[in-house]
Amino acid sequence: MNKSIFIVGTDTDVGKTFVTGLIIKSLRDNGINAGYFKAALSGAREEGNKLIPGDAEEVCNVSGIEEEYSNMVSYILKNPYSPHLAARIENIEVSLDKIKNDYKNLKEKYECLVVEGSGGIICPLKIKDDEVILLEDVIKVLNLETILIARAEIGTINHTTLTVKYLESIGIKVKAIVLNGYNPQNIIHKDNKETIKVLTGVNNFFEIPFVDERNQIVDNYFNFNLLINIINK
Ligand SMILES: Nc1ncnc2c1ncn2[C@@H]1O[C@H](COP(=O)(O)OP(=O)(O)O)[C@@H](O)[C@H]1O
Ligand SMILES: [Mg+2]
Repeated sequence: MNKSIFIVGTDTDVGKTFVTGLIIKSLRDNGINAGYFKAALSGAREEGNKLIPGDAEEVCNVSGIEEEYSNMVSYILKNPYSPHLAARIENIEVSLDKIKNDYKNLKEKYECLVVEGSGGIICPLKIKDDEVILLEDVIKVLNLETILIARAEIGTINHTTLTVKYLESIGIKVKAIVLNGYNPQNIIHKDNKETIKVLTGVNNFFEIPFVDERNQIVDNYFNFNLLINIINK
């Protein structure tokens, strides 16, 4: 296996990091040397004179990856703002070349990288004069296809369909949708899944419930064979 995958969210806080950790754990538990990469993280925690990128830390804890944070995250920003604003305030010049190089260097150590996006698909990493870098530019420069993480609850039909249609309109493929916080007893959640299938044409779905115990999810809800087929296809 040597295909990587990009994890996009319909919004911030939809569970991208949570699900990315589970995906990497599932891959690693099944013998695949999967790693984690993220182009820009804002809201990093200060520890002494170091900045700790919470998402990378969480994924490492869940999945057992041992790696320097600076190898996994190109831009570790302190302010909890959109990356373009945090970078501007912190006088950091975001460049697609650095992101591409960091990704390439890290990829040499792993069979597959699971790359987490920042925010939703139109998340700016740089806006300076007439130079604009959006999350979609990162996906394009890394030449990756995507898995979309969405909320299971009401409102998700609109957010999810908009995100899929937008990604397709710019030539980026959505291989699967993860409905996070899914309750199979909930009529809204069940209908959301069927409706999103009809509206987007995406047929591969994962349903992840809200839980306390993550290992339980991997065993019970993440079908490793389906996951591998989707990433490799
Ligand atoms: N399925 C879930 N079960 C329990 N907690 C969850 C689940 N999904 C997300 N969370 C929690 O919700 C919060 C936001 O999730 P996170 O993965 O950080 O979102 P994002 O990376 O999209 O910003 C975190 O505190 C996370 O632990
Ligand atoms: Mg995150």
